[in-house]
Amino acid sequence: MSAKPLIIGCGSYLPDKIVTNYDLAERIDTSHEWIVERTGIHKRHIADDGENTSDLALAAAQKAIAHAEIDVDDIDLVIVATTTPDQTFPSTATRVQAMLGMSNGAAFDIQAVCSGFIYGISIAEAFIRSAQAKTVLLIGAETFTRILDWEDRATCVLFGDGAGAVVVQASTNGLDDDEPAGSGHNQERGILSTHLHSDGKLNDLLYVDGGPSSTKTVGHVRMLGRELFRHAVVNLAAVVDEALEANGLERDDISWVVPHQANKRILDSTARKLKLPAERVVTTVDRHANTSAASIPLALDEAVRDGRIKRGDLLLLEAMGGGLTWGSCLVRW
Ligand code: ACO
Repeated sequence: MSAKPLIIGCGSYLPDKIVTNYDLAERIDTSHEWIVERTGIHKRHIADDGENTSDLALAAAQKAIAHAEIDVDDIDLVIVATTTPDQTFPSTATRVQAMLGMSNGAAFDIQAVCSGFIYGISIAEAFIRSAQAKTVLLIGAETFTRILDWEDRATCVLFGDGAGAVVVQASTNGLDDDEPAGSGHNQERGILSTHLHSDGKLNDLLYVDGGPSSTKTVGHVRMLGRELFRHAVVNLAAVVDEALEANGLERDDISWVVPHQANKRILDSTARKLKLPAERVVTTVDRHANTSAASIPLALDEAVRDGRIKRGDLLLLEAMGGGLTWGSCLVRW
């Protein structure tokens, strides 16, 4: 019987420095009211000079490892989903591996921008199901504000920095061994499915105008916001239905949607299109802004720690980002 991937712990980290919309309005031609009305964002955390993506990743990883009650030496794969690595190479994952004091296992980065965490969880699932790994540390970590053009008010108000992590472990039966029979929780737990998509023809909707091969610069984020918005609502609604259909489940079965936090209006429009009550959507975008690959594990960790997400709940994780890339993951917590 193939191993079932169970999420056994989570953690997150936000840099101390907070920048409000009012702070931004002192530097660029914008206002708190405009930003809140169009995006729902009130503030964002920003990494200090010298605080790198690997530092954020490490802090989130340590919390996830403690929450999972495992030893660092149990981990045999580290995946970091990031668009803002410390260096062009080696990977940020290998830096985190060293910072954790690991001498075993494998480590690599993946790049799917805001969908990075969903792509990462799909890889973790596949490694566990194929018995190539037993315990995967998956981190979404970004210092996205480093690639913003602070003169471009249409993009620089949207993003923030942060990191979130989960530990995914192979379980032989995926069942809730701790729960008494008949408690209602003895359903199969763990990652039930992942679905990934991309359409490279839509590269121009959201991209960075630099890179080591093309311009030899790091570059800045460029975006066609309106078009992106339209694709986001359509694709995200479709991917939710795809996940439910693949598992023979209904929209009403979802306990919590844990979406990528791009914009409050995208979250609300997607929930409306799916006829899901807004109260079942975990929302952090108001305080974190868009932290790209970090936003889902940050939201997940918040809702687990404040007790909203409970064992046995059905979680629908979804994201869309540059590429375009998009996807979903259905989890029985
Ligand atoms: N403050 C004040 N005015 C602004 C700002 C700002 N920060 N930014 C743009 N404007 C102005 C524009 O210049 C424009 O002025 P004009 O009419 O005089 O030309 C006006 O506001 C309207 O601009 P639009 O771009 O048409 O505004 P829109 O209503 O589309 O809102 C927004 C822009 C918020 C970016 C919206 O398009 C959006 O949310 N798009 C999705 C983008 C997104 O979430 N990207 C994240 C990555 S992708 C993902 O994660 C899903």
